[in-house]
Amino acid sequence: MKILGIETSCDETAAAVVEDGTGIFSNQIASQVEIHARYGGIVPEVASRQHLLSIIPVIERAMTEAGVSWEDLSGIAVTVGPGLAGSLLVGVNVAKAIALSRGLPLIGVNHLEAHIYANWLGDGSIDFPVVCLIVSGGHSDLVLMKGHGDYVVLGRTRDDAAGEAFDKAARILGLGYPGGPAIEEASRQGTASIQLPRAWLKGSHDFSFSGVKTALLRLVEAGKVSSVADAAASFQAAVVEVLVTKTVVVARERRAKKVLLSGGVASNSVLREQLVKHSPFPVLVPPPILCTDNAAMIAACGYYRLQAGRTDGLDLDVVPSLKLA
Ligand code: KG4
Ligand code: ZN
Repeated sequence: MKILGIETSCDETAAAVVEDGTGIFSNQIASQVEIHARYGGIVPEVASRQHLLSIIPVIERAMTEAGVSWEDLSGIAVTVGPGLAGSLLVGVNVAKAIALSRGLPLIGVNHLEAHIYANWLGDGSIDFPVVCLIVSGGHSDLVLMKGHGDYVVLGRTRDDAAGEAFDKAARILGLGYPGGPAIEEASRQGTASIQLPRAWLKGSHDFSFSGVKTALLRLVEAGKVSSVADAAASFQAAVVEVLVTKTVVVARERRAKKVLLSGGVASNSVLREQLVKHSPFPVLVPPPILCTDNAAMIAACGYYRLQAGRTDGLDLDVVPSLKLA
């Protein structure tokens, strides 16, 4: 069963064809990162205009790469939220038009749920329960997944998301945008020798990353940072230590069969290595291209929703602040 996935929640226009929630036939991504880099962050109006320009060519490329025709598809899955309203609208309206004109089921997908489903793009054999850490530009969620579509959020960020913290730290250190890859790159030349605070929030599985970011800012303002590489490595180590420690605690508590890492920050190699090193349970992490925003994960998630009979009507609307559970 092949599903066309469409993703336009933020600054990537993406379309992909995936079979049975696991097999990638095509995965097209048009990134706007260079356009937004000029402004040091995402400009919502620019993002939605760019989605409008890119969406049809990207879908055409995904269909051509997959070598399928419309008759081969069993559904159209599209991100409805969370994300930027104007950006989400582009994908949702194109998806509705295709579903209506081709008589295909329309499946609205939660972007965060889809990040988790990036882990199914492979052999797809995952036994429940699993504990998932979703770390992206807008979210840091620790989730117990008991079955398909069955989530309990056990912890979430109280302020900055992990990716947002990376982006802000990079700006403080003059490393440019997007910050995550810039911090990772800079940290390769440094050591984590600067003491930065970790917010453990005892008794809670929530996260907080604004303190470590502010501590870094104070050090820079006081002229106490002599090596940007050491500062980047120290910041990365502080964020990774909290993410890994809390994830391992929750996985033990819930006797997870596996730990699933996902979201843009999951492409960070130090986070990947440290989680694998410290987790008593097997860790699954998608390849970096499936950690950052893509439409293959939307199609994979859409497949499981379709299997559960959870399709949508043409009154489907965007939900910019959609939560996981
Ligand atoms: O999942 P994603 O592509 O978009 C959202 O749904 O937000 O995540 C983007 C975030 C950005 O904050 C970016 O800085 C971060 O993921 N990121 C990284 C790395 N690559 C991307 N953070 C740390 N290390 C990386 N290598
Ligand atoms: Zn995302």
